[in-house]
Amino acid sequence: MGHFFLQLICVGTIAVFSQLGQPDDQKLRDEFRRPDVISFPEDAPYSPQVAALGKKLFFDPRLSGAQNMSCASCHNPSFGWETPAARTIGAMNEPLDRHAPTIENLAEAKRLHWDGKVGSLEEQASQPITHPKEMNNTIDDVVERLLQIPEYKSWFETLFDDGISGGTIVRSIATYERTLRSGHAPFDDWINGDDDAISQQARAGLDLFIFKAK
Ligand code: HEC
Repeated sequence: MGHFFLQLICVGTIAVFSQLGQPDDQKLRDEFRRPDVISFPEDAPYSPQVAALGKKLFFDPRLSGAQNMSCASCHNPSFGWETPAARTIGAMNEPLDRHAPTIENLAEAKRLHWDGKVGSLEEQASQPITHPKEMNNTIDDVVERLLQIPEYKSWFETLFDDGISGGTIVRSIATYERTLRSGHAPFDDWINGDDDAISQQARAGLDLFIFKAK
């Protein structure tokens, strides 16, 4: 009889714990579920042509002063759109002060850079071009150089009333960047309700990351 009650208490405790566990998991799942569609700002809606132009610019070293460095030199798609080193080497062959982070999944980001001081991808895109240690150029020189390239000139003139300008260059790059999304991971299966998709350690790590380690 005593044994039977002990069993009852145990089963009851497990039931209470799993009931406590369930709503928490559901809350986390709702919070971390990928959006079904990418958000584009009202004043910079998605256009496949603008994104394709932005892609061309992102991979084009002609944006840098010495034509030796593109955005992709530091945000390399082969390495998860970042640099696999603590500090990246810039166009002047000098290490930068900070690590180049991935640029995936930034369409919904409200603050950019390690210190959160940059508010939008458009605002961000001109900074590496003009930074003396990064691409070491001026916006006027980039515009001047792109105007000499007939393909760019006609693409920009087709897509934007004001053709090639600092504004249309960063608008194109930012539109392309918003399309960069990370691939499907086991974590996504967990989000979708498969409890066994990630290990117990990974599940504990998620709690630690969000709650205790903040
Ligand atoms: C020489 C290396 C280098 C080049 C070239 C470079 N970046 Fe970066 N990028 C960095 C570093 C380092 C940071 C982090 C800056 C910080 O936090 O202060 C960064 C940060 C960013 C971020 C913010 C990411 C985040 O999660 O906050 C975006 C977006 C970005 N770069 C886009 C670009 C674009 C677009 C270009 C080309 C126009 C470019 N980068 C060229 C090194 C580079």
